[in-house]
Amino acid sequence: MKILITAGPTREAIDPVRFLTNRSSGKMGYAIADAAVHAGHQVLLVSGPTDLDVPAGVDFIPVESAAEMYEVVARYLPGMGAAFFAAAVADFTPAEISSRKIKKSGEKMILELVKTRDILASARETISFRGFLVGFAAETENLEVNARAKLEAKGCDLIVANDVSRSDIGFDSHENEALLVFKDRTEVFKKAPKHDLAIYLISMLGD
Ligand code: PMT
Repeated sequence: MKILITAGPTREAIDPVRFLTNRSSGKMGYAIADAAVHAGHQVLLVSGPTDLDVPAGVDFIPVESAAEMYEVVARYLPGMGAAFFAAAVADFTPAEISSRKIKKSGEKMILELVKTRDILASARETISFRGFLVGFAAETENLEVNARAKLEAKGCDLIVANDVSRSDIGFDSHENEALLVFKDRTEVFKKAPKHDLAIYLISMLGD
């Protein structure tokens, strides 16, 4: 099967030297890419900037911003059988990118932000993707309720919900613990290496 995976953070430029980003390391998405290729799938990994090595056998497209990630996903998703959106995509981006380094002046600086396009929500609505669609949710409270709302709003088959208020799982850790929220049930995936969770997720696709 052809599988598209998004991973890592995005970088939203403020000026030539500054950007907004987040704590995603890419480990979860890269682990899914590795598990998928080992299971014999054809994998395209679309990733924001990380320090990780691209797993052998994976097709790779690096991106920086949420807008760039959207363009690549919109182009390649229609040919895919499944998609895993593990990237932590910026929800907001600066309204304008200054072409010059912004100077310090005054005691305060107000940065105007505008919403980015939601790539996961666009998969069904705009890109007309009909394959198996897995979204992730980074939550600090009401994990299951918030994840189920995302599952329904974004037309996913599964939301992998992470508690990112804990430092031993979620962003940048080697291990993860997650609630797997399906349309008809919720499963608990107990704390284990991200690779184990990746193998479990890929096993859902069959051969
Ligand atoms: O990279 P790691 O350090 O391994 O950490 C990643 C993780 C383990 C925390 C990962 O599993 C995770 O939760 N990734 C998604 C984090 C996130 O951005 O969640 P969210 O609740 O803000 O977004 C919900 C979903 O919408 C995600 O699938 C996200 O990729 C997608 N999204 C969000 C905004 C946007 N503009 N476009 C999107 O596609």
